[in-house]
Amino acid sequence: MHYLDHAATTPVLPEVKDLMLAYLGDDFGNPSSVHSFGRKAREAVEVARERFAQAVGTSPAEIIFTGGGTEADNLALKGAAEKLAGNGRHLIVSAFEHHGVLDSAHYLERHGFEVTICPVERSGHVDPARLAGLVRSGTTLVSVMTVNNEIGTIQDLGMISAAVKSANPHTLVHTDAVQALGNIPIDLHAWNVDLAAFSGHKIGGPKGVGACFIRAGVPVEAVIHGGGHEKGLRSGTLNVPGIAALGLAAEVAAKEVYEKNERLGAMKARLLDGVTRIVPDVVINGSLEDRVAGNLNICIPGTEGETLLLLLDQAGFACSSGSACQSGALDPSHVLLAIGTPRELAQGSLRFSLGRASTDEDVDALLASLPEIVRRARKVA
Ligand SMILES: Cc1ncc(COP(=O)(O)O)c(C=O)c1O
Repeated sequence: MHYLDHAATTPVLPEVKDLMLAYLGDDFGNPSSVHSFGRKAREAVEVARERFAQAVGTSPAEIIFTGGGTEADNLALKGAAEKLAGNGRHLIVSAFEHHGVLDSAHYLERHGFEVTICPVERSGHVDPARLAGLVRSGTTLVSVMTVNNEIGTIQDLGMISAAVKSANPHTLVHTDAVQALGNIPIDLHAWNVDLAAFSGHKIGGPKGVGACFIRAGVPVEAVIHGGGHEKGLRSGTLNVPGIAALGLAAEVAAKEVYEKNERLGAMKARLLDGVTRIVPDVVINGSLEDRVAGNLNICIPGTEGETLLLLLDQAGFACSSGSACQSGALDPSHVLLAIGTPRELAQGSLRFSLGRASTDEDVDALLASLPEIVRRARKVA
């Protein structure tokens, strides 16, 4: 199999797996215990916090470990909105956010908040001026993802934050940075954002662990209540193997980002060149600039994403389609619709996401198989 779906998840790095295994074995202590087993586990958690904070440009005290990226999005949005409800009950989220953000916003809408959806440009950018135009005196939070998970476009969070805060200095800026870590350098303090979400399994770490950055002084209410772990913001016995792994994976991801991007950029250029040769009417989704190196998202007119995926899988290639089959009908991706892709075209979408382990051989094999796959997919549609 050729794995071309790194935006969905990544294989756990060998060194990360080894570290995890230590905390699944002899070093099994509970970090809340006072004895030596507990102290060892606590040390592992705090080392991970340091590593993680360093990788994303924050201080360790601003990192809260969570059960993944979705949970971090929920904590940031619901936690901050609830705490700041006295100042205003208006939130803004971009139209192509991950459902961790969109559905948290819709939940808040059902609980007395007003939500404005900020449109996204055809290129896959959120226009800072357009966004700032939606901010008003009661806007407590704005959420714009750093890197889109489907089309890979990168937002300039520094500009977005500056525009939002010049419209209302009290508005908090949240960013879902799950797809950013390891794909672009991250400096949350320099970007002047207040809240951010991260996930372990997109960066060579395990699933079910993530982190929420909460800038010092930003008020957030807990979403999960219990024993008061993580400063009362995320109760529940800490997932020590997962957290230790997340810290190391983040350190490696941040260290390797430039080298990885150079390699993947060249590989993607070859993939793009081959795809446009094989499918002359292919549509590239989102701008090719300001986009993570490993992402290529395309629509192949006259096909359906599900069919393409099945044919690709049979031929030994793992990748994704934006469209998902729900109740028997193909639902086109909300991301592609948000950037103005016509519904019918959006149904034939494919996302290739190259990663650390991808090789030229993966790309060559895909390009060799693609003509027959496209021919068969067009026949079925
Ligand atoms: C942009 C984005 N946000 C959030 C998530 C959710 O992260 P997790 O799978 O850790 O809950 C994902 C994963 O698909 C994602 O791509």
